[in-house]
Amino acid sequence: MATATPVRTAARPQIRQTQLFIGGQWVPARSGKTFVTINPATEEPIADVAEGDAADVEAAVRAAREAFDNGPWPRMDARARGRLIHRLCDLIEAEIDELAALESLDNGKPVNDSRLIDIPLAVQCLRYYAGWADKIHGSTIPIDGNYLCYTRREPVGVAGQIIPWNVPILMVAWKWGPALAAGCTIVMKPAEQTPLTCLRLARLAQKAGIPDGVINVVPGYGPTAGASIVKHPGIDKVAFTGSGETAQIIMRQASDTLKRLTFELGGKSPNIVFADADMAAAAAGAHVGIYLNPGQCCCAGSRLFVEDSIHDAFVERVVESSRKRRVGDPFDPATEQGPQVDKAQFDKIMGYIEAGKREGARCAVGGGRVGARGYFIEPTVFTHVEDGMAIAREEIFGPVLSVLRFSDVDDLIRRANATSFGLAAAVWTRDVARAHDVARRLRAGTVWVNCYDVFDAAAPFGGFKQSGFGRELGERGLDPYLESKTVTVSLDPPRGR
Ligand code: NAI
Ligand code: MG
Repeated sequence: MATATPVRTAARPQIRQTQLFIGGQWVPARSGKTFVTINPATEEPIADVAEGDAADVEAAVRAAREAFDNGPWPRMDARARGRLIHRLCDLIEAEIDELAALESLDNGKPVNDSRLIDIPLAVQCLRYYAGWADKIHGSTIPIDGNYLCYTRREPVGVAGQIIPWNVPILMVAWKWGPALAAGCTIVMKPAEQTPLTCLRLARLAQKAGIPDGVINVVPGYGPTAGASIVKHPGIDKVAFTGSGETAQIIMRQASDTLKRLTFELGGKSPNIVFADADMAAAAAGAHVGIYLNPGQCCCAGSRLFVEDSIHDAFVERVVESSRKRRVGDPFDPATEQGPQVDKAQFDKIMGYIEAGKREGARCAVGGGRVGARGYFIEPTVFTHVEDGMAIAREEIFGPVLSVLRFSDVDDLIRRANATSFGLAAAVWTRDVARAHDVARRLRAGTVWVNCYDVFDAAAPFGGFKQSGFGRELGERGLDPYLESKTVTVSLDPPRGR
């Protein structure tokens, strides 16, 4: 992990324009177009970003194809690939202040969250996969007959990677780590809301000595740059993190070229508190579960199920800590919560708050905007929520918690699973048997017991049901970037001529 300590002050980076990164060159968009990226804390423009579209994706795919088909990257010693990934991590750690500030400027998250959470996790992920580079191997298989049969694990080729804006640096690491270790080359499209740190990381990758064309970055919009990646026959695989709606479009468009797909999508994760739980720990877990990255987490614990007998006392704790949460300037070190990422997200969340009130839930705390500038929203808790309400069913992706009551365990499991999502869940109890039983019965890719939002690069992450398919992180996270080749060799001695 990067060794980082909280900063007391952080300079706001000065950056006015950016270019595309294609084949090791920094170039303007072929159309000459740019778009503006906005500081969500001030609503002011930060920089003009070169806007890639189909023509730029074409060039990026050509560069990535060349680097894969003829370049050194998939052919070099695996250990050398690992060393280059480690060198990229060294450079990230050396620039952690600048990167953290840039991330906070573009995304709005508190600068100490960038420094102490996002960047250390990103470095951990990249180093974890650097360690895998020389440990990817096949097996020998005892088939019938006089044969030597073995498998080779080979890189899948050019990976198209489309990422969202909620944890930009971390998403780059989750995508680049396994792809680079496997020997793939990359065409990445960062989210239009937050392109800046991805471009900076590409510069560091170049400085680290990762060969030209291995990593290409084309900022732009989804229906243009993103769709061009999805449709391009020169791309072998697409890894996507974002909304289910966009995943459906991608799946349809990728079918023409039968691309391999991995999806990491949304959630409506149940966070379940039994009456015997450690109240203080569970309340802290409920707080972090919903408010981390102000709810802009695919695994946000947005449905808080509380056992009847402790409901009121527990809700009081959560309401109290919500009221105390410090919302404000991401560059103020005392800030715990910054703005939502953009106006679209702000409006969507405020719409859900209105829907919650309209449908009869009770807003116990929050529910409003903070200040008149920037996309800040109060930490918000709804009680008296019914399972059928929009705020109990749909992903809000904001600091809005829906509290539901339960008494019977079987009924609780049914309700917790009654969602098309299945990304994460948590259970709080001191009863060991119950903890494991509930963990087994919840249909979710990750279940936390007496903790929440514990991430580790070694632990696979991904969704059941409509929360996606494929896994990221851990050994499983390599699979989508590898093909398995079976080689069968006859061991019969050559017959005479
Ligand atoms: P989105 O799914 O539209 O955007 C994510 C990425 O996909 C961005 O890079 C975007 O440019 C790209 N994209 C959009 N349309 C595309 C297309 N047709 N082809 C290829 N790429 C495309 O998500 P958006 O609009 O930013 O957020 C909407 C909702 O999605 C959020 O409110 C939240 O509920 C959910 N979401 C979930 C995330 C997660 O971590 N699972 C991350 C971001 C959003
Ligand atoms: Mg969208």
